[in-house]
Amino acid sequence: MIANWDVKYETNISEIDSQHKKLFRLINQIETIYEENQNHLSAKSKSLVDAVSELEDYTLSHFLIEERVMELNQYPDLEAHKKQHDRFTDKILELKNRLTSGTLLSNDLELNQFFSDLIGFLRLWLTNHILQEDMNYKPFIKHNL
Ligand SMILES: [Fe+2]
Repeated sequence: MIANWDVKYETNISEIDSQHKKLFRLINQIETIYEENQNHLSAKSKSLVDAVSELEDYTLSHFLIEERVMELNQYPDLEAHKKQHDRFTDKILELKNRLTSGTLLSNDLELNQFFSDLIGFLRLWLTNHILQEDMNYKPFIKHNL
């Protein structure tokens, strides 16, 4: 199932909301490539690797901006929030390394399992993170970038 944007994810900070929407789109894009090629994943490995790399790059720049907004507004839980971002960044890197190294790409069955785990993880992480951690800073944001 594709993750859909919903008003409950809104922080009311326009830049952050549009970046979160883009993250949903990037995860959905990975899911679409996966669903369209479930039986021949290896043949589509380049698009899959590209889509994961794009998500990784976009996530990194999004986290930096979000952290700058929190800093600017002296959000008291900034350090704990940053740790969540760092943990996610490490995880994405680990998953991308698994994807681009070793034998994963030559084994459809293994790749299939990898992608269904990856998509489940990404969707759950993003929705939980926005609904919990991001919503916590919402009342503290008085100044935008
Ligand atoms: Fe965040």
